[in-house]
Amino acid sequence: MPENENHRRSTVSVIGLGQMGSRLARAFLATGHRTTVWNRSGAKADALVAQGAVRAASAEAAIAASPLVVVCLPDYATVRELLDPLAEGLRDRVLVNLTSGTPEEASQTSEWAAANGADYLDGAAMSGTRLVGRPEALFVFSGSPHAFTTHREVLASLGKAMHLGADPALASVYDTALFGLAWGALAGFYHAVALVGAAGVEPSAFAAVATGHMPFVTSLMADHARQIEGARFPDDDGTVEVHAAAMGHLVEAGRSQGIGTEVPELISALLERAAVGGHGADGIASVIETITKGKQHV
Ligand SMILES: NC(=O)c1ccc[n+]([C@@H]2O[C@H](COP(=O)([O-])OP(=O)(O)OC[C@H]3O[C@@H](n4cnc5c(N)ncnc54)[C@H](OP(=O)(O)O)[C@@H]3O)[C@@H](O)[C@H]2O)c1
Repeated sequence: MPENENHRRSTVSVIGLGQMGSRLARAFLATGHRTTVWNRSGAKADALVAQGAVRAASAEAAIAASPLVVVCLPDYATVRELLDPLAEGLRDRVLVNLTSGTPEEASQTSEWAAANGADYLDGAAMSGTRLVGRPEALFVFSGSPHAFTTHREVLASLGKAMHLGADPALASVYDTALFGLAWGALAGFYHAVALVGAAGVEPSAFAAVATGHMPFVTSLMADHARQIEGARFPDDDGTVEVHAAAMGHLVEAGRSQGIGTEVPELISALLERAAVGGHGADGIASVIETITKGKQHV
């Protein structure tokens, strides 16, 4: 079969085969989807072609090959630099952009895609590269609901594919929010490992106990989300004052062991600010009001 015909029959094209893009292409192939690939330096496509991918001779050919075009490049400026001259080819295509960027960039790219006759989904890969293709790898998308519905099954090859809403900026908003959440948890973990390490506990021994504790923490998130929605903060999980005192002990414990205390100090400062703002006797989810108002209002 001539190469062109091969291309036209692909289900999905992947443009940008770096660390992430090559995993995306591999996941599409693993679920039996005919996949066309293109990368600026051609050698990165070799392993995928050996696994059954179709090599496109150019980015333009990759766009022509499939109704669904996935791009994964370093940043939005690169996406536009590459796709601007090829915009005509995107008419009637669905463009899925899994490049990391800001909500503003997502909105602008969506408008640009619409002006060129393409349906647009912005996306974010939330679980690194190692889990791509497994059900626990979270991929968030936002933008055209029709595009997501049409290509849901193909996108589900990547992992847990969630559509967050029609606003193309939402995926990027969640991306940054979830990144901050993960780092909040990890910062607490690293501090805890240092603290128990000072008492001679191995990181892995602590991690085994810590991961068993996480379902309690995630249950608080669901509960406290409801409290925040109702703007009512019962003290069932302790008051801000009680937690501020406990966090003070954590800071002291760290100091006495000679380890860094930046992490509990940060939380201490937040709880103290909440108490000063009148939430001392409220439940701990009331810190949302302190955070939402920002520092200048307390
Ligand atoms: N890696 C991760 O764990 C991860 C996780 C979540 C999100 N992401 C996001 O995914 C995106 C890609 O990340 P990555 O880790 O895959 O990056 P990467 O490994 O550095 O790959 C970058 C890709 O972009 C291509 N590229 C760079 N400049 C180009 C240009 N001017 N024209 C055409 N192609 C160009 C590169 O092609 P060459 O091979 O020719 O250089 C390469 O294929 C980023 O936005 C990143 O934030 C990555």
